[in-house]
Amino acid sequence: LGFPFEQTTTPLSDEERAAILADPGFGRYFTDHMASAGWTPAAGWHNSRVGPLQPFSLHPSAAVLHYAQEIFEGLKAYRHADDSVWLFRPELNARRFARSATRLALPELPEEAFVQSVEELVKADEAWVPAYGGEQSLYLRPFMFASEPFLGVRPAAHVTYSVVASPAGPYFSSGVTGVTLWVSNTYTRAAVGGMGAAKTGGNYAGGLVAQLEAQEHGCDQVLYLDGAEHRWLEESGTMNLCLITSDGELITPGLGTILEGVTRGSVLQLVTEHGLTPVERRVSIDELRAGCRDGSITEVFAVGTAAVITPIVGFKGDGYEAVVGDRQPGKITLAVREHILDLQYGRVPDSRGWLRRV
Ligand code: COI
Repeated sequence: LGFPFEQTTTPLSDEERAAILADPGFGRYFTDHMASAGWTPAAGWHNSRVGPLQPFSLHPSAAVLHYAQEIFEGLKAYRHADDSVWLFRPELNARRFARSATRLALPELPEEAFVQSVEELVKADEAWVPAYGGEQSLYLRPFMFASEPFLGVRPAAHVTYSVVASPAGPYFSSGVTGVTLWVSNTYTRAAVGGMGAAKTGGNYAGGLVAQLEAQEHGCDQVLYLDGAEHRWLEESGTMNLCLITSDGELITPGLGTILEGVTRGSVLQLVTEHGLTPVERRVSIDELRAGCRDGSITEVFAVGTAAVITPIVGFKGDGYEAVVGDRQPGKITLAVREHILDLQYGRVPDSRGWLRRV
């Protein structure tokens, strides 16, 4: 496909960029450029490029605004100590993007084109990749949506692909403190046959009211149970879940109605180096509560690209509360977190070939 570069005439000054990079937060500031491409059935993918960051011009009847035909991805570019810039397993995001596209009846973007678009944008805005040394990165947000102006309900015949980039500090501004989860009895996230495995905006829109419910109960995030039995752990608000047991297992809910997280998959492979056996299987809320009570579940954490690993120190549901361990971030949790970050920032050898230099 190819993403030729057209430089913006209105980049931020070095001073303005430095002021943003001093405290970027998450998702608030954007770099000078964006990648984009269009698609129609007749032309296929076309007009692909990296050009100036600019607003879209969308007809008010653009299908995405009405029927939410949309998908997205999230990945990061990391600066290493020698100033080089790297992506972490971007081909997994490319593959998941293609699967999400199929589920949302959007056209597949070739996986090489996905990776190329991300790489070309990072090259164009390399100065925006935060300096090595903190837990900062350049968050990349590829997305695709139905831009056809049409109110009939069918797959759109005009689709837009784009990537924007946003410098990111730690996702949770308060640092790696443990969070608590609200086990919702009101809301579920996905059902068998639904869109749970796709990274589509609707899954996140549907979660907002559950997130509010969690906050009303004094919790930080939601823990979703399955839609059929309201019994099996699915995922937390925007992250996958992992449990560590006293007999050395790392258990995470199996795939199906949850998002197949890149960090989830990476953690499953890394934990053997921490003496844990990875296990993918169903876990019931009763098992979790009992395990917290009798100490057979020693640590719980959430995994995702944005926040990496977040320790979970307690749960609340209708009429009950459970504490994990001693209500402090778990030791293995923090060690696995450091391990992932060490890999991403090039502090340990990349023996699995997960990093890709930009
Ligand atoms: C994650 O990286 O964990 C996410 O799900 C991204 C979030 C900002 C939607």
